[in-house]
Amino acid sequence: MRRPIIAGNWKMYKTVSEALDLINGLKQELKGETAVDIVVCPPFTALSKVAEAAKGSNIAWGAQDVYWQEEGAFTGEVAPKMLTDLGCSFCIVGHSERRTYFNETNSTVNNKVKALLKHGIVPIMCVGERLEERDSGKTFNVVSDHVEGGLKDLSGEEISKIVIAYEPVWAIGTGRNATPQQAQEVHKFIRDLLKKAYGGDVSAGVRIQYGGSVKSDNIRAIISGEDIDGALVGGASLKVKDFAEIVRQSKK
Ligand code: 13P
Repeated sequence: MRRPIIAGNWKMYKTVSEALDLINGLKQELKGETAVDIVVCPPFTALSKVAEAAKGSNIAWGAQDVYWQEEGAFTGEVAPKMLTDLGCSFCIVGHSERRTYFNETNSTVNNKVKALLKHGIVPIMCVGERLEERDSGKTFNVVSDHVEGGLKDLSGEEISKIVIAYEPVWAIGTGRNATPQQAQEVHKFIRDLLKKAYGGDVSAGVRIQYGGSVKSDNIRAIISGEDIDGALVGGASLKVKDFAEIVRQSKK
C-alpha cells in the first residue's frame, strides 16, 4: 500500500514573511493529519525560515531545484549538501517550467536525481507532455523519454526511493486538468515502464503524483485512480485553506 503524498510547489511566490504566514497556517490547519505525507517546496530564499517553522511538525519541506555538483564556482546555483543542511527531505527536478525556460534536459535531470539520491534527498521528478504532443498522439513517447532519460543508470534500489510527478504541461496553471481517466492511463503507463525495467516489487512501491490544476474540488476524483498516489500542487498550495483541504481529501 503506497502512502499518499501531497506536495506544494510554491514556485516563485512568497517573500519570507508571506512564507512564514503560510507554513504557520498550514501547521495549524493540518495538525494531526497523519494519513498523508505533506511536503512544501518554498523558494530558496524562504527555505531556512520555513524549515525552522516546520521542524517537529507533520509537514516536510524541500527545494524546487538543485545543481548536481558538490560545490564550486557555479554562480547562482545551490548544492545538494546546502539542502541537507536545511533538513530538506525532498527536491523537485525536471519541472516543465525549468525544461521550457531554463533548458533543463533529461540529461541534466538525470544528474540532479543522482546527486540528490547520493545526499539522501528524495527527488520528485516531473514528466509530462505538451498540448501539441498530446494532440499529435505522442504522449506516451514523451513520457517514456522523460522517465527513461531522467532515471538512466539508476538501480532498482535507487528507483524505489524516488517520487515521480506526472504533470501534463497543458494542465499546469490553466485550470484545465486531465480527466481522472487520462491521468490514470498515463500513471499506469509509467508504472508499467518501471515494472519492465526494474520488476514488480520496485514498480509497486514507487509513488506517482499527478500535477496540473489540482484543487480541493477535483482531488478526490483524481486520487481515486489506482496508480495515482498524490498530487504536486501549484496555485492551490499558496493558500492555507485550499492546500489543507486537498490534503484532507487525499486519503486513499
Ligand atoms: P498548478 O497547480 O498551478 O496548475 O501547477 C501545477 C504545477 O506545476 C505543480 O508543480
